[in-house]
Amino acid sequence: MFDPSNLVREGVKNSTGYNVSHFIRAWSNRDLLRMMSNENPIQPSKAVIEAIIREIDETNLYPAPPAGLCERFAKHVKMKPENIAVCSGSMEVIDVLIRTFVEPDQEVIIHSPTFSAYEKFANLHGAKLISVKMKPPDFAYPFEEMERSITKDTKIVFVCTPNNPTGNYCKKSDIEEFAKNNVIVAVDEAYAEFIDQNMTDLIASYRNLVFIRTLSKAWGLAGLRIGYLIADESVIDYFSRVKQPFHISMPIQRGVEAAFDDPNYLRERVAANNQGVDYIRRELDKIPGVTTFPSSGNFVLINAGDTGHQTQQIIEKLLDMGIFARDMSSHRLGGAYFRITISTEANNRRFIEAMKKILKS
Ligand SMILES: Cc1ncc(COP(=O)(O)O)c(C=O)c1O
Repeated sequence: MFDPSNLVREGVKNSTGYNVSHFIRAWSNRDLLRMMSNENPIQPSKAVIEAIIREIDETNLYPAPPAGLCERFAKHVKMKPENIAVCSGSMEVIDVLIRTFVEPDQEVIIHSPTFSAYEKFANLHGAKLISVKMKPPDFAYPFEEMERSITKDTKIVFVCTPNNPTGNYCKKSDIEEFAKNNVIVAVDEAYAEFIDQNMTDLIASYRNLVFIRTLSKAWGLAGLRIGYLIADESVIDYFSRVKQPFHISMPIQRGVEAAFDDPNYLRERVAANNQGVDYIRRELDKIPGVTTFPSSGNFVLINAGDTGHQTQQIIEKLLDMGIFARDMSSHRLGGAYFRITISTEANNRRFIEAMKKILKS
């Protein structure tokens, strides 16, 4: 009898795969208010949709390499197109980076809590994961301890800034200092547009420094699945040998180009989000026992441990009221925390009213 367990790689055998249960739940009930996965609540502009549709007729043809995207992304982050590699979402960038640089049993260092994909993909590729704690209440980046954890087997250190789920960000000088280590320093800037931070000029001095960006957050295009790597050309060369060659379809390329060609697209989304962060924090901080943390992203981390209510029950009651928040108990934070994604003004108000109602009962 054939048993795939006898053939499968060890890393795959020991992994559980990426948890997509929250997407299954949200897509199977379209009435749920999606405040669980840091998506943008605003649909793409008409120009984006029209550009996608215009290109749909020729889907019998393989797509061209995404040169138009490389040009626009390079301009956005003040680099050259040669410094850009486009992937299907920044999750793929993380996956390909690990496959490009890390042999099984070599080490990947992360700070924790952070985005779960670094750990997932490191495990999948049989790497050893070293996780260094960020401690509440300020969740400061533990750079010194991360540096002490580097050994001759360390290949990549991931730094997420602004960090999901804690919401804080690190200074450019911290990244510059850390880049002096002889490892790939991979800075995940999925939320950088919300604070208009750009550190790519450091690549000229530190060729081991790479940045990861996505269009899924401030750009509001999560469904088009586009992320990109910004790096020295020598790194892009190796990275491009590993990534898929034809997986950014022409309709998607045209849609993204249209988004980047609209000067108001990003500015409006960022402004609305940042007002939403202020509103949600201000209102939640008035509720006894609730603690929120400053956020430079499109989400707010909440500790409801002192409310006299179990956080799990709060999340369940929010769900009963049609609001999908994200439990953070799997993020090495303990059971008291959850995360809420900023939505539209009306939806943010709906969430605050629901919280007041739940915590009064
Ligand atoms: C820090 C961080 N990086 C990457 C991603 C994945 O984004 P993408 O949609 O580009 O795969 C997320 C998604 O939540 C994230 O929080």
